Amino acid sequence: MQENFTDNNNESKENLGVYISTYGCQMNVNDTDRMYSLLEMVNFNPVSRPEDADLIIINSCSVREKPVHKVHSEVGRYKNLKKSNSKLRIGVGGCVGQQEKKNLLSDVPLLDFVFGTDAIDELPDIVEKIYRNDQKIVRARFEHQKPYQIQTLNRNPGISTFVNITKGCDNFCTFCVVPFTRGRERSRSLNELVKDVNSLVQRGVKEVTLLGQNVNSYKSECGAHFSKLLEVLAQDTDIERIRYTTSHPKDFDQELCDVMARNREKICEYIHLPVQSGNSEVLARMNRGYSRKEYLDKVLMIKNFVPGVSLSTDIIVGFPGETEEQFEDTLSLLEEVEYETLFAFKYSPRPFTKAAKFEDQLSEQQKSERLNQLFAKHDEIAFPLAKKYEGQILKVLVEKHNLETGKVNGRSTQNKLVHFSGGSDLIGKTVSVEITEAFPQTLRGKRVEL
Ligand code: 5AD
Ligand code: SF4
Repeated sequence: MQENFTDNNNESKENLGVYISTYGCQMNVNDTDRMYSLLEMVNFNPVSRPEDADLIIINSCSVREKPVHKVHSEVGRYKNLKKSNSKLRIGVGGCVGQQEKKNLLSDVPLLDFVFGTDAIDELPDIVEKIYRNDQKIVRARFEHQKPYQIQTLNRNPGISTFVNITKGCDNFCTFCVVPFTRGRERSRSLNELVKDVNSLVQRGVKEVTLLGQNVNSYKSECGAHFSKLLEVLAQDTDIERIRYTTSHPKDFDQELCDVMARNREKICEYIHLPVQSGNSEVLARMNRGYSRKEYLDKVLMIKNFVPGVSLSTDIIVGFPGETEEQFEDTLSLLEEVEYETLFAFKYSPRPFTKAAKFEDQLSEQQKSERLNQLFAKHDEIAFPLAKKYEGQILKVLVEKHNLETGKVNGRSTQNKLVHFSGGSDLIGKTVSVEITEAFPQTLRGKRVEL
């Protein structure tokens, strides 16, 4: 059923516009798409500028930045819009909504509603009530008991899309706010995921990325683990390519390597394996559940069973108490593992987390220096690593065509962005491309017939 909420207030019947600004991880990007889909069902059409919106949602992130501050300043920018459009309602969702709950309404008076990470599917109801009763709303309770059943709702899934398989996290790394903002870990059922992927295939999707805070602790209610899920999706659906992120080193096992090795033609040889630090004492204080040696052993296992694998990682510099020597262990680990891509961050204390209370916090300057050093070290190793692709023939799934340049681009199975000459007829096709020139982040090549 479609309704036009503002009708209840006797306001105009024209189409309503919704604008969502998104911060943070892929999970949030995916949640934003879900919000648009849910709101479209109740007559809100996506608009690309806040000026054209009757509903603005800030899908926030609290993993690293100064989140409340950001919400404040963004909402502040909409002050005049509220004056000129009496229908305009503004809400905050995502991790800041979950973390701050009703405090956010008092801190930011222009806000009309706040909803948490478990309340996304309640959005149509929230919005309806906001318009009908003109009352502020907070919905930020975790639904610990309800099974995690959602259908992938994508307005326009395209060639490659994301599929949530787990939500929440039970790991409680001492620096991380996610267990508090996303709640306890829960997995979707295997059968539901197979159905979901099949229906995406019917809609023309060629590649799915399985998404979760810790995908390899996935456990279906029938007892199937992540490796089983991967194998079932690879063998029982017609999806062409499967990727996944993020995997936790402590849960990365031989079985997962075996499944990747058995299904090489479908499961891409790219693994994001966040290490966070190269020093075992720091890792213990982070509560990561592995030592430097255990991590390196897993990397060796992966490299042996998934030849040509491309690895990326997350690293935090300046964790409380991190000494210069301990930081140097992180630098040396970078060289030892040979990550092709690095995501690195300065430690920032997060509410509710244990590490925020650790006494030996480092100065901003120390953290910045270490971050610069780390990126400089990575720059040294990333270029030679990219160069190895020159002369290789990679399988590229074409996603985009640029009319002006006459070039297309897409990702190789190693998750490298590859540019080469071609027409729009290639979109959605997997083609062989010989790499002619490698740059640290992208590759250039020419199409070859095999
Ligand atoms: N400070 C800095 N980086 C953090 N991350 C998570 N929490 C923090 C924090 N408090 C980083 C980790 C994680 C990535 C998603 O964000 O590296 O893997
Ligand atoms: Fe955060 Fe650790 Fe869970 Fe990742 S595994 S989401 S870093 S608590």
